[in-house]
Amino acid sequence: MKVLGLVSSPRKGNGQTLVENVLAGAAENGAETELIRLTDVEIKPCLDCGFCKKEGNATCMQKDAMADIYAKLAEADAVVFGMPVYFGRPNAPFLQFNDRMYAMMNPDFSPRLPTGKKFATVITLGGGGLETVEPMHATLAGIFCGAFGWKDCGFLWKNMMHDRKAAAGQPESLAEAKAFGKKLTE
Ligand SMILES: Cc1cc2nc3c(=O)[nH]c(=O)nc-3n(C[C@H](O)[C@H](O)[C@H](O)COP(=O)(O)O)c2cc1C
Repeated sequence: MKVLGLVSSPRKGNGQTLVENVLAGAAENGAETELIRLTDVEIKPCLDCGFCKKEGNATCMQKDAMADIYAKLAEADAVVFGMPVYFGRPNAPFLQFNDRMYAMMNPDFSPRLPTGKKFATVITLGGGGLETVEPMHATLAGIFCGAFGWKDCGFLWKNMMHDRKAAAGQPESLAEAKAFGKKLTE
């Protein structure tokens, strides 16, 4: 089983720590894992140029890291998204990645990637609560289950994450993340 983690925080912070532990839990179940930091690679904005929606064109016309990410998503059995909340929604690098997933839809808007992948979400935030996290998760489920045919495996969220190393100092949060990764790969 292949599990791909995509982390959108610019910080090597809490989201990354938690996703690393989710992947560690998956690895304990024998999964092959990889983590990509979306802010360490070049992801250009979607141009809505229409190239990916022309018959015969199978992908985005832009040349950047998304080509590699599309290939890795195609191969992954499960995907773990890690994102911080900025102004009540996922931060911009996640949204930029998300917009570029448009190229993984055919001209008739059917999914271009294999369906049936599992996905799990890790959301970190400073002071918000479930009233922020639940609608975010529901939007992601609408996109990745609704448009791409993936299976939603739930979300892990941690509040009071202003300090970059907050989660690293919470053994119970790390254990929870590991257990989440194990459940994802059962
Ligand atoms: C531009 C910006 C906007 C933010 N907006 C919110 C917000 O709306 N609600 C909230 O609870 N935290 C907010 N925060 C706090 C971040 O969510 C928090 O620092 C981050 O999730 C920690 O995750 P990380 O360590 O993975 O970066 C914001 C932080 C920044 C930098």
